[in-house]
Amino acid sequence: MTTHVPPPLDWVKNQCSETPDDCQALNRLKPQAITPVARQFHRQLDGYRMSPLKSLPGLAAMLGIGGIWVKDESERLSLNSFKVLGGSFALYQYLRKRLGIRDRELTVSELKSEAAQQQLGDICFATATDGNHGRGVAWAAMELGFDCVVYVHERTSKPRIRAIEEYGAQVHVIPGTYDDAVRQVIRDAQINGWQVISDTSWDGYEDIPNWVMQGYTTMMAELQEQLAGQGIVQPTHVLVQAGVGALAASVIGYYQGLFGNSRPTTVVVEPNKAACLFESAKAADSHSHSVGGTLNTIMAGLACGDPSPIAWNILEHHADFFLSCPDFIAAKGMRVYGVPVANDPFIVSGESGAVTLGALMFICECASLADLKAELALDATSQVLLINTEGNTDPQNFRRVVWEGGNPVPANYRHTLG
Ligand SMILES: Cc1ncc(COP(=O)(O)O)c(C=O)c1O
Repeated sequence: MTTHVPPPLDWVKNQCSETPDDCQALNRLKPQAITPVARQFHRQLDGYRMSPLKSLPGLAAMLGIGGIWVKDESERLSLNSFKVLGGSFALYQYLRKRLGIRDRELTVSELKSEAAQQQLGDICFATATDGNHGRGVAWAAMELGFDCVVYVHERTSKPRIRAIEEYGAQVHVIPGTYDDAVRQVIRDAQINGWQVISDTSWDGYEDIPNWVMQGYTTMMAELQEQLAGQGIVQPTHVLVQAGVGALAASVIGYYQGLFGNSRPTTVVVEPNKAACLFESAKAADSHSHSVGGTLNTIMAGLACGDPSPIAWNILEHHADFFLSCPDFIAAKGMRVYGVPVANDPFIVSGESGAVTLGALMFICECASLADLKAELALDATSQVLLINTEGNTDPQNFRRVVWEGGNPVPANYRHTLG
């Protein structure tokens, strides 16, 4: 008797992925026009350099696909995550607007000048985070000479909190989830006169999260340059992880803007304990849907129950597939990055960074996902792009998974390569 093994992950094909003639959310993101501005700003930051693009030919051959490309954000500006690109650019845009400058860009030295600082006065920036965004905003506030308050939820690990405090921010621990921390910081900012720099949006608060998404496109511009250097015009597939969806919307919106409907096939990847975009796509009613509960996943950066509306407005039309993954998929990704095949490079990848590699492996290896592999048309001609969005941002959990084998792959799903 053969026992039925359910697929290791759930997936849904987007039913609304037809491109409208005029996608307002995409026009607003305007990646092509804004990306050089974001990149020019980031270039001036202390310690800026392009994050590496790494190729995993050994693993690609093992999985029967043409290539795997990893944009490795694990050492971005020494903060171990791509997130700082968004928070810092939003701060820049906010300060430029507050200085009343609309017709030109500012240099970072101008922003830091005594004249600008006097005109701006004391500003305290505030944000809610599950770790990486708050760290990036704290770093940028400190770099530019401002105070910062960061709200984290009760399950945020001590190392993540310390990593934020290291940049001079005051950290407040809030009962509940990331979404509760967002609601609380909005209320407290109003009382205290703080300026919220959020990566998620809500009714009437869209400019700043849009700037955050625009900031992420620096990474995309670097990546396209690096791919071109390898003779690749664009990847055939992009797997991108999502919390509130801002990164995924930025990446997918960037490609939609650049290549229109000949863009890569796009796959949004979430933890199954916080799969709000997956559930929204499944509902197929063009609304975004929240998920509740404790959102208790090892993928701390993706533990968000409320999608960002401005991100959803892009994803609902331009993302092709949505995946919902258990934690062991991320854990497998971390270990595979850390112990690569043959001569592939070693990559340090945290829980949220590694889930897309884990998902790709299960899609290629598992008979129960053969239908998804076929829908995606993953084969020997595919050039798959993954973004390692974080390095070792939580050393205790990193060691629990990588050293001690935490969140093991269940026996049913092992040795599928034969
Ligand atoms: C490491 C990492 N990857 C991916 C994401 C997802 O980004 P978003 O919340 O914009 O979907 C986050 C968010 O904090 C993150 O920290």
